[in-house]
Amino acid sequence: MQISKDQFLTLKEAAKFVGKSVHNVSYLITYGKINKYNSAGKVVKKGIKGLVFVSKNELEQYTKSWQKQLAQRRKSLNIKDQTLAFSQLSERERTKHIHRLHPYMGKFIPQLVEYYLKKNFTKKDIILDPFMGSGTTLAVSSELGLRSVGIEISPFNCMISNAKLQDYDIVKVSKEIEEIYNQTKKFSDAWTDSTSIGDSSISKSKYLNKWFAKRTLAELAFYKKKISDYQHQDILKIILTRAARSSRLVHHYDIATPTKPVTKPYKCRKHFTATPGSKKIHRMCHPLDRAIGKIKLYTFDTTKRIETFSKLRKSSDYLVLQGDSRFINLTKEVGARWKNVSINGIFTSPPYLGQIDYHGQHQYAYELLSIPTEVENEIGRKKLGKGKQAKEEYQKGISAVFANVSKSLHKDAKIFIVANDKANLYEKIIKDAGMKQISFKERPVEARAQGDKTPYSEKIFECALEN
Ligand SMILES: C[S@@+](CC[C@H](N)C(=O)[O-])C[C@H]1O[C@@H](n2cnc3c(N)ncnc32)[C@H](O)[C@@H]1O
Repeated sequence: MQISKDQFLTLKEAAKFVGKSVHNVSYLITYGKINKYNSAGKVVKKGIKGLVFVSKNELEQYTKSWQKQLAQRRKSLNIKDQTLAFSQLSERERTKHIHRLHPYMGKFIPQLVEYYLKKNFTKKDIILDPFMGSGTTLAVSSELGLRSVGIEISPFNCMISNAKLQDYDIVKVSKEIEEIYNQTKKFSDAWTDSTSIGDSSISKSKYLNKWFAKRTLAELAFYKKKISDYQHQDILKIILTRAARSSRLVHHYDIATPTKPVTKPYKCRKHFTATPGSKKIHRMCHPLDRAIGKIKLYTFDTTKRIETFSKLRKSSDYLVLQGDSRFINLTKEVGARWKNVSINGIFTSPPYLGQIDYHGQHQYAYELLSIPTEVENEIGRKKLGKGKQAKEEYQKGISAVFANVSKSLHKDAKIFIVANDKANLYEKIIKDAGMKQISFKERPVEARAQGDKTPYSEKIFECALEN
């Protein structure tokens, strides 16, 4: 029997039908949201030889119920204007090209930055992000042909940003990325129980020995040692640390904020198979005993991402400054880079008060590369909580940043601050920094920090200098 085209769709047709990717449709099958059919129109539980089909009716039902849930969540936030929700974007679009070069908890989506920069600035303008994080504002500026400056306290975040923004000779960098992988693969193939780690800062680190298997550490140490033979060291360090992050002894379902290492096979909450209406069958997952698989994965993924970005970008005129935005002499730094300029605008998202550990989330990288941290200068540190004193310190710190960088701004500069201001701290921050609020918008956020799926709203303050 041949199936009816009105009732069944191939994965490609289904993706087009719902405006998502084939990957998204496959996800619905894997997680039991819809059934998988063969070419005779029969539900199939296991693998299929030949084309896979899905039912148009099931897909429509699922999409409707998902949209209903989304509408309910939005209603709970009570925000009428949905322009800035960007909820139609898939995860893939929100993390397109270099925006997924290394995981970073607490970054904003590039489409939000794009929306504001396109509307408010013109080519060659200089945009500042005094809380640069993983460099989203600078990357979007590059794509739009704008110049940009980022300041960031965490040295590893600066490394991520530099690796994203560098104007690569793609042939040269791809060759290096591939060569170092091939050498590490050879090392891995020859590994035995008696192979030494050969890097005392790694073999003696309590943290690394707790979170990584012995062979994993040896492979990471080998790759690290080889980096000094190459020119593009930042991008290699980003591949190394991304592979390290994914090779830790952690459960697949709590990779963002693991609490203790896993040493035995476990029933995985993330990986399971299911068909609609039946019980989930959880897969037994194993902690990783080596890093080489992840190194290979990110070798190819990274090359693809930087190549895509290199074709899209219209400017390579950016400046990454590592330091404390409260005290940095921005006029001097900018003057050393561009003559007779002032900054035309700010687009930034300050740290969340007492919520995200901006250094700690990359502890594996700090330990592996022996980078000194500057955690004590992080404003709104998670460790200090959200109490009265923490709030006052936060207000002082954030307004000191804006007051300091304002000295380098053009008098008509447009300032956009994206903040989760549940505690209403920003009215005072804006005033104390010598700025005035021009307008503000609210946008619903489905889930910004990894692991936190509670929707909340974010405020976007448009400000100007008071005088
Ligand atoms: C919300 S995140 C910014 C994320 C960024 N928008 C992105 O998309 O990647 C805030 C950043 O401010 C940084 N930060 C905290 N205190 C700082 C300070 N005193 N000077 C400069 N940066 C600081 C944190 O390390 C963190 O990376």
